[in-house]
Amino acid sequence: MSQAETQSKLYLPSDAVVASAHVSGMDAYHALCKEAETDYEGFWARQARELLSWKTPFTTVLDESNAPFFKWFEDGTLNASYNCLDRNIERGLGDKTAIIFEADGGEVTKVTYSELLAKTCQYANALKSLGVTKGDRVVIYISMSIDGVAAMQACARIGATHSVVFGGFSAQSLRDRIEDTGAVAVITADHQVRGGKPLALKGIVDEALGLGGCDAVKNVLVVKRTGSPINMVEGRDLWLADLAASQPTTCEPEWVGAEHPLFLLYTSGSTGKPKGVQHSTGGYLLHAALTTQWTFDLKADDVFWCTADIGWVTGHTYITYGPLALGGTEIVFEGVPTYPDAGRFWKMIQDHKVSIFYTAPTAIRSLIKAAEANDAVHPKSYDLSSLRLLGSVGEPINPAAWEWYYKNVGGSRCPIVDTFWQTETGGHMITPLPGATPMVPGSCTLPFPGIQAAIVDETGKDVPNGQGGILVVKRPWPSMIRTIWGDNERFVKSYYPADFQGKYYLAGDGAIRDAETGYFTITGRIDDVLNVSGHRMGTMEIESALVSCTELVAEAAVVGRPDETTGEAVCAFVVLKRPAPTGDEAKAIAKQLRDHVGKEIGPIAKPKDIRFGDNLPKTRSGKIMRRLLRSIAKGETITQDTSTLENPAILDQLGQAY
Ligand code: PRX
Repeated sequence: MSQAETQSKLYLPSDAVVASAHVSGMDAYHALCKEAETDYEGFWARQARELLSWKTPFTTVLDESNAPFFKWFEDGTLNASYNCLDRNIERGLGDKTAIIFEADGGEVTKVTYSELLAKTCQYANALKSLGVTKGDRVVIYISMSIDGVAAMQACARIGATHSVVFGGFSAQSLRDRIEDTGAVAVITADHQVRGGKPLALKGIVDEALGLGGCDAVKNVLVVKRTGSPINMVEGRDLWLADLAASQPTTCEPEWVGAEHPLFLLYTSGSTGKPKGVQHSTGGYLLHAALTTQWTFDLKADDVFWCTADIGWVTGHTYITYGPLALGGTEIVFEGVPTYPDAGRFWKMIQDHKVSIFYTAPTAIRSLIKAAEANDAVHPKSYDLSSLRLLGSVGEPINPAAWEWYYKNVGGSRCPIVDTFWQTETGGHMITPLPGATPMVPGSCTLPFPGIQAAIVDETGKDVPNGQGGILVVKRPWPSMIRTIWGDNERFVKSYYPADFQGKYYLAGDGAIRDAETGYFTITGRIDDVLNVSGHRMGTMEIESALVSCTELVAEAAVVGRPDETTGEAVCAFVVLKRPAPTGDEAKAIAKQLRDHVGKEIGPIAKPKDIRFGDNLPKTRSGKIMRRLLRSIAKGETITQDTSTLENPAILDQLGQAY
C-alpha cells in the first residue's frame, strides 16, 4: 500500500470517546500546541504546577545557558514518591487499589495506595539503615512484582538514584552496569518465574559481583520469590523482608531539586558499551504524568495495564511513575503472554476488567499467529468489553497488525495510540491523543503538544512533507535525557551532533511526514541500532560478544533483517579461526556461539541467523560491505556491484544460514 493510500484510511474516535477525553477534539489539541508555540515556558510551567506537587515552587522554567545540558524547574524541590503515593492518600485514595499483581502462575495480590506507601517507606528505611543516602546509586535486578515497584519508589523517596537492569540480562551485562553506576547496593530476588520455570536472579548477582569491578556494592537485598535455596554471603546479603519488617511504615521524603537524577537506565547506541541515560526528577515526572493523562486519558475508574517490564523505560514511565502519579489502578504482570497459553493477555483483561491496554507490536504479532491457529486463544473467546483504549509502543506497528488489534481486541470501538518515544525521551513524543486525533494504521500521527518534532536533511534543513529524512526535536523538553552517566562528551556527540550546529536533539530514527496530513511515520533507525521485539541492541555490542569467543571467532559482523514476528532479527556473519564449517558441524558451532552471546549480553541478543564464511565481503580498502550483508541476510538476489569485492567467492558460502 502506498503511503497516500494508507493515509486515506482514517479511523475517527467516536463522539462518546471525544466527549469524555481529557483532550477533547482536534481543536483542543491545536489550542494546546498553539499555547506551547506562543509561550513555550509558560505552557510547561502551567502543566508542572497543575500536575505535580512541589515542596518548594520553582521560579525558573527552562535554563538553556549551558546547552545542551538543559535544566527545567531547577530551583523547585519535590519528591517523586510523595507525588506517586502520599498525595493520593491525602486526596482520599488511601483505600484505592494501586496495583493488581498477577503472578506467572495466576495468583493475584492487590495493594492499596496506603499499603504501597507503607511498604515503600519500610524499604526506604531499610536502605537508610544500611547507610544508603541521597545521590547514591542502587541497582535493581528483579522481575515484575509489587516489590520491584516499591523498591524503585523507595529509592526515589530517599533521593537514591535507581538503575533497574532487566532480569533477562546476563551476569556480565549486570556487572558492567553495576560498575558504571558505582552502585552501593543491589536489590534482587532469589528467583524470577516465567512460563512456569524458576530462573535465578540472586545467583546471577553473585556471579556478576564475582566478576570484579563492583567494589562499591556493600549490600545485596534479596526479595523471597520462590524460597528455593540460594547462597547468602554473610555480612553482605540480607533478606529484604526481614530487614524491612522492623522498620517504621513512615519515612519523611527527601525533598530533592527538580534536576536531581531520579534514575539511570542503560540503552544501546551505535558504538561502544550501553549508555546510562540519566533522567531528572521534576521534568521526567511531569511528562510521565502528563502523557498518562493525555495519551492514555487515565481516569479515576480505569484499570490500566502496561505489559512492559520495569527493566525497560516503558515500565518506568507507565508502571512505576505515570499511573501512580495520577492515582490510577494498574496491573503488574509477572509472566509471559504465551503461558499457560496464548490467551493469557485476553483472560487477564477479562478477569481484571482492564480498560486501557498498552503493549508491543511484537506481542500482538505473535498472538495473532496463535489466535489464527486456535480459536480458544483468540480474543473473540473472551469478554473484552471493559476495554476502551489500546496502545502500542517500541517499534513500528505494521498496518495489518494494527487492524487486527483494532478489530479483534478493541472491538472496533477503542482508539489505538501508537506511541513513538525512546529511553532518552522519558515519555511519549509523537502519538495520537485518543479523543482527538484521527488515526492511520502504521502512523504515530502528530507530536504531543509542546514537542517540537521535525524532519530535516543531513544539514539540518527542514524537508518538505512527503519526503523522508532525519527525525529531530527542535526544542528541549522537560523529560529529556540530561546526560549519559559519567560521559558528557558522548551525550553531546550522540544527541546534539555538530551536523545540526548542536541545536537539535537527534533521535536516531528516520521518518517521513504525509504530504496531506503531516502525519509522521517512523521508517526505522538510521544508526547501527537494531530493534528486536522492541528491544534495542547495538550491532557492535553483539559483534564484540561474538569475537570475545576467542578460541573460535576471528571476525564478526552483525546486521538486522526484517522478521515477521520480532520486527527485526539479528543476523551474524562469522569468520572462524578455521575454515568455514557446513552441515551439522556448522549447526553445532552456531549453537555454541548463540549460547556465548546469551552469556555475554543476554538471551535477547542471540543471533537468529548465523552465516559462516572464510572471509567477510570487503572493499579493496578493507571496509566491510554492510549493505551487501543486509541484502544477503534478507535473502535478496545480489544486484549490487560486487566487482570491487576483494573475494567475490565467499558470497556463495554466506548464502547458508544456520
Ligand atoms: O526506533 C524507535 C523505536 O524504538 C526506539 C527506542 O527504543 P527504546 O529506547 O528501547 O524505547 C522503546 C520504548 C519507548 C526508537 O528510536 N520505536 C519506539 N516506539 C516506536 C518506535 N518505532 C516506531 N513506532 C513507535 N511507536
